[in-house]
Amino acid sequence: MSDDFVLRAAAQGDGGFLGDMVVEAANWRAGAARPRHEILSSLEHRRYVAGWMRPADAGVVAMDSDGRPVGAAWFRMLSQDEPGFGFIETAVPELIIGVHPLWRARGVGRTLLRGLLDEARVRGHRRVSLSVEQDNFARTLYRSEGFVVVGSDVGRDTMVRRLG
Ligand SMILES: CC(C)(COP(=O)(O)OP(=O)(O)OC[C@H]1O[C@@H](n2cnc3c(N)ncnc32)[C@H](O)[C@@H]1OP(=O)(O)O)[C@@H](O)C(=O)NCCC(=O)NCCS
Repeated sequence: MSDDFVLRAAAQGDGGFLGDMVVEAANWRAGAARPRHEILSSLEHRRYVAGWMRPADAGVVAMDSDGRPVGAAWFRMLSQDEPGFGFIETAVPELIIGVHPLWRARGVGRTLLRGLLDEARVRGHRRVSLSVEQDNFARTLYRSEGFVVVGSDVGRDTMVRRLG
């Protein structure tokens, strides 16, 4: 399998793949295998993809050399009434990321993060938030990309990246 991948902007037709990535994020822990339908029918996960793509949504998708999606990072504007796990404030977008298991630890996640933060800057956002469980190594990745912990609750951290 080639190690090559390229990023493209997420599009309307990516909703199904983003749903797959929500499932990967929810099942990040080794051995976790909650079924897709169960995860995507739960309100707290469904809101990351429901009605994709809305005007304030933006994302990047990593594609392998055969044009297949292998990972994605995106953000959404969620409301106080229907917040995500990483909600901090109205008008601060929340980031979600997932990489196909076969493509992990090959630089896709970091590249997706950087690409998405560039897009957030272009759109004039000053901050991006996310939520991560404290024992997920992804927390270290986020820290190394400039995210800082702004709050913690039952094993999860909310992190924020300020955009210059
Ligand atoms: C988290 C995730 C998006 C990261 O993407 P990735 O493509 O695997 O990450 P990268 O290859 O860009 O690696 C980023 C850094 O993490 C490190 N890393 C990767 N996998 C690791 C692992 N299993 N354990 C510890 N560190 C790891 C890499 O060494 C790299 O650090 P370095 O640049 O200093 O070498 C991806 O692993 C994933 O989808 N995981 C399951 C879902 C998930 O946890 N989503 C996040 C929920 S908040």
